Amino acid sequence: MKPFWENEYLNKERSTFGNPSKEVEDIVSLLPNEAKILDVGCGDGRHSLYLAGLGFQVDAFDISQNAINKINYLKELSGLNINTYVCDALEFEFKHKYDLIIVHGVLQFIEREKQPEIIELLKKWTNVNGYHIVALFTDEEPVPEDLKDVMVGVFKNEEIKDYYNEWEIKMFESYKFNDEHENGIRHCHALNKIVARKVNQ
Ligand SMILES: C[S@@+](CC[C@H](N)C(=O)[O-])C[C@H]1O[C@@H](n2cnc3c(N)ncnc32)[C@H](O)[C@@H]1O
Repeated sequence: MKPFWENEYLNKERSTFGNPSKEVEDIVSLLPNEAKILDVGCGDGRHSLYLAGLGFQVDAFDISQNAINKINYLKELSGLNINTYVCDALEFEFKHKYDLIIVHGVLQFIEREKQPEIIELLKKWTNVNGYHIVALFTDEEPVPEDLKDVMVGVFKNEEIKDYYNEWEIKMFESYKFNDEHENGIRHCHALNKIVARKVNQ
């Protein structure tokens, strides 16, 4: 079964996952003016469009062609410059380091054995003093029925912190929220959010 967002990405009228997340808005004041930003699994671009609108240099990729078609349409419409790619997280071709990498609601859709390699790669391609914002689902709540085929990599609660031992953790949150997908299935998600700064090479 295809995840619900594939259909939502065909609807050009509204943002599938709403407004930019608060921690993305909050980090803006800490970024250099010329900051380079990578949005991993960007979906239909709520974060990329917001950050490009503020004048940052944004690269964004997603495994979904529908997602990239929509973000391309929206960036043309608003005259924004975002480099977009249809790409798997393990295949992205890095050309330079980033000041901010956002991985919002993506890692739980990637197999457990691939996650360490991806996170280490993203850390390597981050500038010293650069940031990561990661949001992911944990196994503190069951996987919703409609996402069983794709949500193959839920984390343990607080596990993501272990990846950032040598970084400064600026913010960590663990909480649950109720959700209802467009197919009407009500469920609860358990979420971890981390904002971390790279302090050493
Ligand atoms: C829940 S959506 C979140 C979208 C966006 N990050 C946001 O916060 O609005 C998850 C996205 O991750 C993408 N995705 C899943 N697995 C991926 C992978 N291996 N590589 C790149 N993107 C992936 C999906 O296509 C989907 O667009």
